[in-house]
Amino acid sequence: MHDRRIYGVVLLALLLSLGGCGGGEQGGEDAGKAAEAAANEETAKAVYGKIKEVSMDPQVNTAFAEKGEKIFNVVCSACHKYDERYVGPAVGDVYDRRTPEYIMNMMLDTEVMLEKDDTARCLLQEYLTKMPSAQVNETDARYVLEHLREVAENR
Ligand code: HEC
Repeated sequence: MHDRRIYGVVLLALLLSLGGCGGGEQGGEDAGKAAEAAANEETAKAVYGKIKEVSMDPQVNTAFAEKGEKIFNVVCSACHKYDERYVGPAVGDVYDRRTPEYIMNMMLDTEVMLEKDDTARCLLQEYLTKMPSAQVNETDARYVLEHLREVAENR
C-alpha cells in the first residue's frame, strides 16, 4: 500500500519533469525550468518581443501576401518548408497554430523569443539550431506574415 503511494509520487514527479516541452529527454536544469514555467500560467500567456499587437484585416491582403512569398523564398526557405520539418519547423500551418504577434516576434525579436517564450524555447531545445534574428525589417515581416496566413488558409 505504502509502496504504491511512493510509486505514484515518483511517477508524478517524472511526468512533471517531462512537461513543459512535451516530453523529450531533458533532465536536470531544463526540467526544473520547464516545471517552473508550467507552474506560472501568466508567463505562458505573455507576449514577448517588441511587437505587442498586429492588426489583421478580415480578408487576406493578396498584395502583401505576394510580396511576402518572394521574401519567404529568399530568406526563410533555406530553413523552412511548408509541409515538413527541415532545419526549422514546418510553417505551412503556423498561422493556425500561433498568434500573429508570436510569428512577427519570431522574425523580428528572435533572441528574446528563444529565451523567454515557452513555445519558442522548447522548439530551440528540439531543433538545436538558433533561428537567426532580424533577417527582415518590420515591413517585410508583415508581408511574410500575410503570406503564411494565405498558405494556412489555402490548405
Ligand atoms: C538558419 C535557419 C532559419 C532561417 C533562415 C529562418 N528560420 Fe525560422 N526557425 C528556425 C529554427 C531552427 C526554428 C526553431 C526554433 C529554434 O531552434 O531557433 C525556427 C522557428 C520559426 C518559427 C516558429 C515555428 C513554430 O512552430 O512555432 C517561425 C514562425 C519561423 N521560424 C519563421 C521564420 C520566417 C518567417 C523566416 C524568414 C524571415 C525564418 N523563420 C527564417 C530556423 C530558421
